[in-house]
Amino acid sequence: MKLAQRLGTITTAASFDMLARGKALEAQGRSVIHLGIGEPDFDTPAFIREAAKVALDQGFTHYGPAPGLPEFRRTIAESWRARRGIPCEAKHVVVCPGAKPVLFFAMLSLLEPGDEIIIPSPAFPNYGSMAQFAGGKVVSTPLVPGRGFDLDLDALRARINERTRAIVLNSPHNPTGGMLSDGSLQAVRELVLKHDLTVIADDIYADMIYEGRFTAFASLPGMFERTVTVDGFSKTYAMTGWRLGFGIMCEPLAKHMATLMNNSNSCTATFVQKAGDAALKGPQDDVHAMMGEFRARRTLVVEGLNAIPGVTCFNPPGAFYAFPKVVAPGLDSGQVADRLLDEAGVVTLPGTGFGAEGEGYLRLSYANSQANLREGLARIAGFLARLRP
Ligand SMILES: Cc1ncc(COP(=O)(O)O)c(C=O)c1O
Repeated sequence: MKLAQRLGTITTAASFDMLARGKALEAQGRSVIHLGIGEPDFDTPAFIREAAKVALDQGFTHYGPAPGLPEFRRTIAESWRARRGIPCEAKHVVVCPGAKPVLFFAMLSLLEPGDEIIIPSPAFPNYGSMAQFAGGKVVSTPLVPGRGFDLDLDALRARINERTRAIVLNSPHNPTGGMLSDGSLQAVRELVLKHDLTVIADDIYADMIYEGRFTAFASLPGMFERTVTVDGFSKTYAMTGWRLGFGIMCEPLAKHMATLMNNSNSCTATFVQKAGDAALKGPQDDVHAMMGEFRARRTLVVEGLNAIPGVTCFNPPGAFYAFPKVVAPGLDSGQVADRLLDEAGVVTLPGTGFGAEGEGYLRLSYANSQANLREGLARIAGFLARLRP
C-alpha cells in the first residue's frame, strides 16, 4: 500500500504511549503508579450519566445536525456568554466529539501550505502535529519558567512575520498548569490587530483554577471575530471518554466547520449532547467537589516534589498538572521518565514530549488518589536518591 506523504507529519502524543507501557508492565504483575495521562480520575457526575440514559430511551440514537443539536448550541452560547463573557450566539457554536476535532478543523481551516503558526513551548503536543498535518509551519515561542510560564512577549514579537497566520494560546496550560497574565493577553491582542492574526484559544482548563481569574481571549474587545475558542466537557465534567467538545467562532468559519463535521463524523452522538446539555444546566456541586480534591492534591504533590533534593516545582494556578524541574545528572528528561517507569514503576511524561523547552522537566498529572500520589512521590524520591553517587 502506498501511503500519502502527509502521514509523516502527524504524531501520537507521548501520554498515550506511556500509558500503554505502564499498562503492559501492570499486565506482567508490576505495581505501577499512573501520573501520566491527563484525565480526571473521577466518575462523570451521576445526573449527567442519568441524562444520557434518558436520552437513549427517548430515541436520541439517530443522526443529528452536523454542528450540534440547536438547543444544546443555544445552551452553550448562553453559558459561555455568562461564564466567560464571550459575545456568542448559537450560530457561532459547533459541537464536536471532543476538543481535539475542533483544534484539528481549526488548523485545516486557517492554514495554507507554508503559513506559520506560533505555538508556545512547552505545549500540548497535538497542536504542532495537527498544524503540520494541515500544511502549516510551526514556530515555537518560549514560555518563561521564572514568571509562571507566561509568554515571553519580546520572543513572540520577534517571531511574527508576513507568513504568520495564527497564534495558539492555552491557559490554564498543559503541561505546566500556568496561566497567561492579563498583560500578556492584552499584548497578544495588540499584535493580533497589528498583524491581522487569528488566535486559537484552547480554554479547556478554564474551570479548573485554584488562584486568580480566567480571562477568555475571545472576550477582549474586538477579539471575538478573530478567535477560535476551543472548549469541552472532558476535564471539567470528567467526561473524557464521552467525546464531547465545541468551538466558538465567527459565523463563516462555523459554517465551514459544520461541513468538516458532516464529512468526517456526520455529527456528535446526540445522546452525548443531551448529557452535555444537562451538565451545563444542572448543579455544579460535583465540579466544585472535584476541584476541592484537586486543590488538596496540588498541595500534596507540589510540596512533596519540592521536598525532594534536586527537584523544584512551581505552584500551578490551574489544571491538574505539576511540571517539576528535575536534576538528574547525565540523563535527559526522556531517560528520566523511561527509567522512572522501568525501575520505579511510576508513569510520568518527559517535558520534551511537549517541546524542546521542556528539557529538564517532567509532567505529572495529579489525577490520582492521594495515597497513590504519596507512593508515587516516595518512588520518585527513591529513584533520584539512587542516582546520586
Ligand atoms: C490543552 C488540551 N487541549 C485539548 C485536549 C483534548 O480534549 P478532548 O478530550 O476534549 O479532545 C487536551 C487533553 O488532554 C488538552 O490537554
